[in-house]
Amino acid sequence: MRTETGWEIFYDQFVPDTLNHLETVTMIGNGYLGTRGSFAEGYPGANRATFVHGVFDDTPIVFTELANIPDWTALQIKFNDKVFSLAEGTLHSFTTRLDLQYGVLTRQVDWESPDNQRIMINFERFACLHNVHLLMQRLRITSQNFEGQVEIQAPINGYALNEQLMHWQHASNNHQHDANQLVIKTIASKITVAVAQDYRYQGDLTQKSIWNVPMQPTAVFLFGLKAGESVTFEKRTALFTTRDTANPSQAGFELLEQSSGLSWIQIRRQHDKAWNAVWSTSDMVIDSDDDAQIMVRFCLYQLLIAGPQHDDQVNIGAKTLSGYGYRGHVFWDTEIFMLPFFTFTQPQIARNLLSYRYHRLPGARKKAKANGYDGAQFPWESADTGEEVTPTWVPAWVDNEDGKSMELVRIWTGDIQIHITADVAYAIMQYWKITGDDEFMLTRGAQVILETAKFWASRLEWNQSKERYEITDVIGPDENHDHIDNNAFTNRMVVWHLQTAQEIFEWLVSNPDQQADDLLSMLGITQAVSQEWQKKATLVYFPDINEEGIIEQFDGFFDLDYIDFSLYAGRTKSMQEIFGIEGTQKVMALKQADVVMLLYLLRDKFDLTTIEANYDYYNIRTDHEYGSSLGPAMHAIVAAMIGRRGEAYQHFLRAAKADLYDVRGNIKDGIHAASLGGVWQAVVFGFAGLRINQDGWSVHPTLPEGWRSVEFSFYHKGELQRVRVTE
Ligand code: BGC
Repeated sequence: MRTETGWEIFYDQFVPDTLNHLETVTMIGNGYLGTRGSFAEGYPGANRATFVHGVFDDTPIVFTELANIPDWTALQIKFNDKVFSLAEGTLHSFTTRLDLQYGVLTRQVDWESPDNQRIMINFERFACLHNVHLLMQRLRITSQNFEGQVEIQAPINGYALNEQLMHWQHASNNHQHDANQLVIKTIASKITVAVAQDYRYQGDLTQKSIWNVPMQPTAVFLFGLKAGESVTFEKRTALFTTRDTANPSQAGFELLEQSSGLSWIQIRRQHDKAWNAVWSTSDMVIDSDDDAQIMVRFCLYQLLIAGPQHDDQVNIGAKTLSGYGYRGHVFWDTEIFMLPFFTFTQPQIARNLLSYRYHRLPGARKKAKANGYDGAQFPWESADTGEEVTPTWVPAWVDNEDGKSMELVRIWTGDIQIHITADVAYAIMQYWKITGDDEFMLTRGAQVILETAKFWASRLEWNQSKERYEITDVIGPDENHDHIDNNAFTNRMVVWHLQTAQEIFEWLVSNPDQQADDLLSMLGITQAVSQEWQKKATLVYFPDINEEGIIEQFDGFFDLDYIDFSLYAGRTKSMQEIFGIEGTQKVMALKQADVVMLLYLLRDKFDLTTIEANYDYYNIRTDHEYGSSLGPAMHAIVAAMIGRRGEAYQHFLRAAKADLYDVRGNIKDGIHAASLGGVWQAVVFGFAGLRINQDGWSVHPTLPEGWRSVEFSFYHKGELQRVRVTE
């Protein structure tokens, strides 16, 4: 990977073994859909996928997943019947560029076929931002010594599989004027998707036809080509689903019709304008660290193409729309890691993401009820209905006496990783405090905070002998330890949540709007209920703090065996892989920040001495290399808070490199979305030290060595703030 301008990443070599990595990092999108950067013509082992927010369908084990929709970029090219493929012939040169500023992916190949025909091909694609249903692709073929017939086949392939699983049934093939359309439907969720395409070209066209194959209508074009001549071919795709409109087929044809009078350049202008508007509040400029600059922009780009601008019924999965990992499911990754970026720089997207949780309250109520509690409990993994979709058992390779064998592993997160419910409330409060969006709080946010507070009030367990409330049998952020009692993070966040509910209650009581009264009556929340919550909050046990000021991560953590991570230097596996699932439970090896995370989220509640002592204690017990990708950015922030410039930068780089350098070796499954958001937070709250307070905001810089300044923008109560921080 290289970069020249600070706005693009480019690869000037094709390494087949890293194809899946390339496909993930060069994805394009527009907040409606995401398309991996797979080659239009295909390649063996490619992992092609396009996902549209909200288009879920049922599947075994993980309940539901985003369905891979027909690949709008597919093209087959033949030169006198010889199929163009980089798997054959000689590749004289290869360049792929992803322009992060405008989300445009280009590729240029200088290719010689096995029978020595030499051809240059330029590919280009982007998903319009000004109209998210319009997708643009073109190619230019220039012959160097080839003379003969070029065939371009443009299929709309409905056999789009999710790895081995097919989610689609055929509805219809339609044609209008020169446009071709495939309409298909998901098997269980019955979402109709209509993909329409039309075509433009320049060159010596000798024939065009449509192969009206039911699941794969294909437009076919034949051109004559001589040495030194070119053919250009442009394909426009209009994509709608029944989640967008009642008649996606008609909407698709209409959009193609509307855009037909506009040239590629004219469409690009509208698209660029939309991107310029987005970057005008979301960009970050670092002087002078070119590597950090491009990595940060890459993270922001990936967040922006995942953020739903127009839909408040969807959310961002842990792998965005970039791959099969986690099947499009939504975790706390959104609220705690990604959301601050949107809340501060694209509040409308943040509002959509939080509204998704509001709309999913019925699923959360169901979960609370099924577990015997009141109110609403958010699922650890959420998708279309808002019910729990964490798999219960997953097949996995496990080390045992006979070597390795495939076994079913019980996943407990869906049962007991309950802190997500407080995390959602935390994000709502942060959004409200920053944006001042009272309307959102009144109509949506307050209800979420109060109904989920009801859940906590019923979830707390009274320990009669110790006269305190406890929360037992949970998983905290550090998933290496499960079935633990009194996780500091969970217990403290619950206290925060109950106290916050009290604040919201009082805000509603003093709110003259009738809706405020109606909400409280509907939820049955009275002064007495709110006081009861307040009382409970004061009686929740916060784990022991030892003489050195260290907060015990959970009951019994201090009794676990200490592991000296330096003895495992050079490892290529996570601590959990080294010790096994059971073995890791018994040792002090954290998958990710837990107490450190708490110190960051509730930093006003802890003094710097406590923060520093706990950072030092837990930092050396955390698997930064192969644990969770969510951890490093959080450590970067806390390290910066206590003035550890070098360490903060080291952690920041771990997070910033996660995808571009495939540090965990799993990039083929998709982007590490939480880490992207963590990177933005590390720069803003860590290095720049942005603090929001009663009177406004202030910065407390701890810039990495060599950074002369960092510039970013954010909205504070609707007013755009431009910040330039120097050391
Ligand atoms: C992490 C979780 C995270 C999930 C999805 C897990 O490996 O431990 O904190 O929510 O991945 O990214």
